[in-house]
Amino acid sequence: MLHTRIERRVIGVVAYITDEIIALSFGYPCHLARELLSIEGVPMEVRMICDILIIGGDGDLAFRKLYPALYHLDLDQCLPPCQRIISVSRNVASAEGFAEKVRNKFIKYTGGATLDEKVWSRFAARLQHVALNATSEAELARLRNQVFTDSSRDLIVYLATPPAIFAPICQSLWAVGLVRDNMRIVIEKPLGKDRESFLQINTSLAAHFREEQIYRIDHYLGKETVQNLLAMRFANALFEPLWNGNYIDHVQITAAETVGAEGRWQFYDEAGALRDMVQNHLLQLLCLVAMEPPASLEPHAVHDEKLKVLRCLAPLTGRAVQEQTVRGQYVAGTSGGQPVPGYTQEEGAWAGSTTETFVAIKAEIKNWRWSGVPFYLRTGKRMQKRFSEIVVQFNEVPHALFSEQMRSGTANRLVIRLQPEEGIRLHLLNKVPGLDDAMPLEMVSLNLSLSDVFTQRRVPDAYERLLLDVMRGNSTLFMRADQVEAAWQWIDGISAGWHSGKQRPVPYVAGSWGPSESIALIARDGRSWQE
Ligand code: BG6
Repeated sequence: MLHTRIERRVIGVVAYITDEIIALSFGYPCHLARELLSIEGVPMEVRMICDILIIGGDGDLAFRKLYPALYHLDLDQCLPPCQRIISVSRNVASAEGFAEKVRNKFIKYTGGATLDEKVWSRFAARLQHVALNATSEAELARLRNQVFTDSSRDLIVYLATPPAIFAPICQSLWAVGLVRDNMRIVIEKPLGKDRESFLQINTSLAAHFREEQIYRIDHYLGKETVQNLLAMRFANALFEPLWNGNYIDHVQITAAETVGAEGRWQFYDEAGALRDMVQNHLLQLLCLVAMEPPASLEPHAVHDEKLKVLRCLAPLTGRAVQEQTVRGQYVAGTSGGQPVPGYTQEEGAWAGSTTETFVAIKAEIKNWRWSGVPFYLRTGKRMQKRFSEIVVQFNEVPHALFSEQMRSGTANRLVIRLQPEEGIRLHLLNKVPGLDDAMPLEMVSLNLSLSDVFTQRRVPDAYERLLLDVMRGNSTLFMRADQVEAAWQWIDGISAGWHSGKQRPVPYVAGSWGPSESIALIARDGRSWQE
C-alpha cells in the first residue's frame, strides 16, 4: 500500500531531518531544507524525499520535456532539497558531461529565458547519469546497491523508453527489489497499437504493480486550459445548466499542427494520426467536455465519469466508418512560406506508405445529455496553422426577434483554446453602437486570455504539473487502465473499417486545412469548421 496522507506527513518530517544529514554528504546547502520547510503553499507531500529514476534518460523526451519540467519545478521550489534525478540509458556519459548536455538542450528547447544560474547549479547537483541496460537484472542490481540503498526514500521510475521493453524493465525492477510500496511508475504512450496489445502491456505492468502505482501520462491533461475546463464547467453556475443537447448544437475539437513527421518518420508511420492523437489526446478532451459532474476531484471519481463517456461512444464500424471519418495524408506544399515535401517524400520515408497524417471524425455519444449532438474531431500534421481548441457551438435562439440583422451562424459560441495562447472566448451578439434605426448587431467576444489576466505568472508546461502530481501521489490527471482500453476499443473499430474497405488516405496539400472531404464531412450536416 502507498502511505496514507498522515503517514506521509510524519515520514516527510522524519525524512527532512535525515535529509539534512544526506544533504551534507551530497554537498547540498542544508539551509535549503530549512528554507523549503518554511515555504507556505508547498504541500508537505511534495516536501518529502523522493528520487526520480528516468530510464531512457538520454533520449528526446527526457531532454525536451522531463528535465526542463523538473528544472522549472526546482525554480518554483517544489523539489525537496535532496531529491535526486538519476538518468539511466545505455549511452556512456560522465556525470559532469551529462549535466552540461542537459543544460545545452534546455537552452535549445526552451530558449533559456528562465535559466537562473543559482537554481541551475542546485538542479545540476541533483543529476546523475549511469550507463546501463535497464532490462538486465545484474546491471539494475548494481544500480540499486550503489544508488538506491535507502528504501525509505520514495521512488518514481519514469519509463521514457519504447513500450516494447516495458515488460523486461518491470521484471528487472521487481527482481532487484526496486518495486516497493513507496514506488510509482510513469509510462507514456504509445500504450499499444490496439486494444489487444495495450492489454498485453498492461498485464506485464500489473504483474508487478498495483493500479494505484501506475501513472499513464497523456500530456494534454496537464495543459492549463484543460484543467481549466474542469474549473469552468464545475466551479461556475453559468454553463452547466446549458451544457446538454437542449442548448448545444455541436462540439468541435481540433488539434492542428504545422510540423510534419520529420525526424521521427519511422515511429510515426507505425502509429498515424488516429493512434498518435485521437486515441489519447482528442478522446481525453472529449471526455472532459462530455462527462457528468464527478462526485469529487478524487482520481476514481473523475476516472469513473470519463469511462462512462467512452463507453457511450457510438461504435464506428462498417459503413459508418466510410460516412463519418476522413483520413488524409499530406503531399508537398508550403509551411511558413517555405516549400515542404509530402509525407512519403520525407527523409527515411517509404513511398508506398498509407499511414494517415490527418483524421476527421464525426463522433456521437449515446446518452441523455448528448443524444443528437455531434462531436467533430479533427487533427493533422502540416496544417495551415498550429492551434488546439474546443468549440462549443450553442443553438440559435428559439425566436429570432432580430431576424433581419441575424444571419445564420450567429449563435453563441464558446471557444476554449489550448494553444498556442491559452484562453477562453465567448462569442455573443451585440448591438453596434449608434443611432441606426435597423439596430445592427455584430458578433463580439468576451475574451479571457490567461496571459492577460495572470500577467505575473509563468504558465507551467504540462509535464511540470504532471510530474508534480506523481510526486504528490495524485492520479486525477492520468489515465486509468479501463479508460485506455475503452478508448482503444472505439479506435479499433475505425481502424478495422479503414482496412477492410481498403480505404486509402486522401491527399491534402501541406499548409492547407486538410482534405476537402473533411470540409464535406461537416458541411453535410449544414455546419462548418471554425478556423
Ligand atoms: C504527441 C504526438 O503526443 O503530441 C506528436 O506524438 C504531437 O505527434 C504532439 O506532435 C503534440 O503535442 P502538443 O502539446 O505540441 O500539441
